Amino acid sequence: MDGRFNTIAGWVLGAGIVFLGANLVVHELFGSERPEKMGFPINGVEEENHAGEAERPIAFYLQTADAARGERAFGACAGCHTVNQGGANGNGPNLWGVMGSNVAHRADFNYSDSLRNKGGRWDWDTMSQWLLLPADFAPGTRMTYGGMASPQQRADVLLYLNTRVGGTLTVPPPPAAEPAAGNATAGNEAGANASAGNASAGNAAAPAANAAAPAAAPAPAGH
Ligand code: HEC
Repeated sequence: MDGRFNTIAGWVLGAGIVFLGANLVVHELFGSERPEKMGFPINGVEEENHAGEAERPIAFYLQTADAARGERAFGACAGCHTVNQGGANGNGPNLWGVMGSNVAHRADFNYSDSLRNKGGRWDWDTMSQWLLLPADFAPGTRMTYGGMASPQQRADVLLYLNTRVGGTLTVPPPPAAEPAAGNATAGNEAGANASAGNASAGNAAAPAANAAAPAAAPAPAGH
């Protein structure tokens, strides 16, 4: 019994080694294709995320944005900005009506050249990019604020700026590419799981695909 067990164990171990070997061979041959299929574009935005989850378009987070939460988060901005109509400029300009307006929207504020010459309008995307990393959006800006890494928190602040302080933009529909975006919390988790699932599915699929290889591989592999 013992001997038989050892034999079986030996075969299992051997099979495992063949699998590993075949895996290596397959990796050598096809390894360069896999990262593309996993679909994780790597850029600075994603590295901001502590959890490592890929960030979606801001329209996704706006579906569950909450203006009251945004008002609380605006505490990080209130030292430099007023938001009420007719409010005074401080270190930063008054932000009444800023959503939907031109970048550098106050005639009575002394903007940096960088922001003044930026051009364009404050919409959901530009405002989200600005708040993510002001110095990236407008290099040389005088807004010495390190940025708001959480996309949900940015969406909250955007909604607050828009609904509470005279903004005129309508919340965009969920991004088309998101089937589960109707419920963003669930969608969020589904997305995270899907990404994780993709990664492990990719890993799991490789040995499965390789399973066919050992039959054919041992001869050419030779060792
Ligand atoms: C340390 C002070 C400071 C903090 C904190 C700060 N800002 Fe600013 N903000 C500024 C300054 C200064 C400018 C003008 C920047 C320039 O001219 O380059 C500015 C500009 C802006 C503008 C552009 C306004 C326009 O008229 O185009 C927006 C929008 C804005 N800030 C939003 C925010 C939000 C939202 C927060 C919080 C998450 C925040 N700021 C935090 C100082 C600050």
